[in-house]
Amino acid sequence: MNEYDRPSISLDGQWQIIIDPLENGYYDYRYQPKADGFFMNLKPKNKSELIEYDFDKADKLIVPGDWNSQKPELLWYEGTIWYKKDFNYQRKNEKRTFLHFGAVNYEAKVYLNGEKLGDHIGGFTPFCFEITDKVKDGNNFVVVKVDNKRRADGIPTLNCDWWNYGGITRPVKIMEVSQTFIQDYCIQLKKGEERQISGYVKVAGNDIPQEVIVNIPELKFHQAFKTDQYGWAKIEFSQKMELWSPENPKLYDVQIKAGSDEVSDKIGFRTIETKGQDILLNGKSIFLRGICIHEEAPYRSGRAYTVEDARTLLGWAKELGCNYVRLAHYPHNENMIREAERMGLLVWAEVPLYWTIQWENGDVLANAKNQFYAMFQRDKNRAAVILWSLANETPLSDARLSSLTKFAKYIRTIDNTRLLTAALESHREVQNPNSIMINDPLGKYLDVLGCNEYYGWYVENPEICKNLEWKTTYDKPLIMSEFGAGALYGLHGDKLERWTEEFQKYFFEENLKMLKKIPFLRGTTPWILMDFRSARRPLGNIQDYYNRKGLISNQGQKKKAFYTMKNYYEEIKNNFK
Ligand code: GCU
Repeated sequence: MNEYDRPSISLDGQWQIIIDPLENGYYDYRYQPKADGFFMNLKPKNKSELIEYDFDKADKLIVPGDWNSQKPELLWYEGTIWYKKDFNYQRKNEKRTFLHFGAVNYEAKVYLNGEKLGDHIGGFTPFCFEITDKVKDGNNFVVVKVDNKRRADGIPTLNCDWWNYGGITRPVKIMEVSQTFIQDYCIQLKKGEERQISGYVKVAGNDIPQEVIVNIPELKFHQAFKTDQYGWAKIEFSQKMELWSPENPKLYDVQIKAGSDEVSDKIGFRTIETKGQDILLNGKSIFLRGICIHEEAPYRSGRAYTVEDARTLLGWAKELGCNYVRLAHYPHNENMIREAERMGLLVWAEVPLYWTIQWENGDVLANAKNQFYAMFQRDKNRAAVILWSLANETPLSDARLSSLTKFAKYIRTIDNTRLLTAALESHREVQNPNSIMINDPLGKYLDVLGCNEYYGWYVENPEICKNLEWKTTYDKPLIMSEFGAGALYGLHGDKLERWTEEFQKYFFEENLKMLKKIPFLRGTTPWILMDFRSARRPLGNIQDYYNRKGLISNQGQKKKAFYTMKNYYEEIKNNFK
């Protein structure tokens, strides 16, 4: 229902919190869920009644925002924190009311006025609950139990190279819509068609079937469609239009009307496909000049979420000469996607199936599908998003292959217009260690191969690169989805001295020479745009719990290697045919 643009009542700002590492607000001393947990927000009725918590006497945190970067004592905290927010509301008969969360990491249990609304798993995707019959006139209170504990059966699982920022990390809002409203829509070009729009509008409510008007003023397009008795209207029409591309990120105002409800959106139209080893955008072969980005806030650290955060990070990517970004390793906030689209940056989007996922556990695939579907639902009208990534550096196993094959098939049933990829690993051929092979069996199910390589950083030193030759068993385009080296901004020395800017620069010089020799290479996303926090990086006075592979420090200082990549992209821009 396009939460991004719909009018809404924001619940952002200060929320009262109770830090609850033992989940005492949820379980009794027998570790059984209790009926009068903190979600009831109880107050003593008289001087004798025992209530051992009080949100109104509790500490506060800002929402949206992770808790780790807001309070030093919470920097390392992984566990449960209870959030409470009061709000005044006036019910309106002709309206339906929804409570929407942009994202909560990792598990959220949501209550309204003490009543359970539901649970949500997954730290990077939106969710909402209808509260039409639960919200009351006057004061209401929302309570959210947020638990960011890492789990073996989680997505991501126990081990990951980014900070496990917990909390209500994206905006919370109340949305009011008409009794009959536009619940969903997808207005995009049909696969491989530059003029044929093929989509749908879903109307929910009692006044169905319903007429749906699609209006694109700039194209003088105005047409009525009819929903079926379930509220679905098939939207098919042929229209000449300017296609969206990095050079011309053309967006059209698209208005959709049904009954008394109306939504508008800025939508771009483009085609994306592969042909042999080429990636074709609007029918033309393209080289994806990219960079990996974590959703880490520039300068202040913590989870990024504002439009400014997005403009800063994506602005640096543009400065580097990018036409594309890999948003690692999870669905980033909607500001990132919308700003990328506005700025003319193509997007690789990913669900955090990262490293040692518990494939044998049947719930894992279901969780992955839910996370993907939520990301798809939010971003399906975004022309900038061209690649769905299944996973990152997951070790080979039959269980992994069967799960990811099923996942790939699932995604194709949901969206056959975008390309499937994954960040795979390569291996050195036994008979010839200078021959690097990409033949992961998962490659068969992908449109584009992604590969992470660290020859010259985790494998020996940069000079190894000149001897290496890359091969694959697939006739498909390759994106080198990660390659990078650590450097502390301002640390200088000779080019073989680790952690110096000179070493990082040398790493990129040698890697780029190697990459230029790969005939099926159609894109690169160095690891990574900016230094980011990670609990896996304890080296004192160098890392200090930051991954230092950024081309830019977390204080926005450009390292020498930034210009090495910038020159390479300038070269590609002028020469790639
Ligand atoms: C891995 C991984 C990243 C990690 C990087 C590194 O390839 O995908 O998440 O941060 O390497 O080691 O720096």
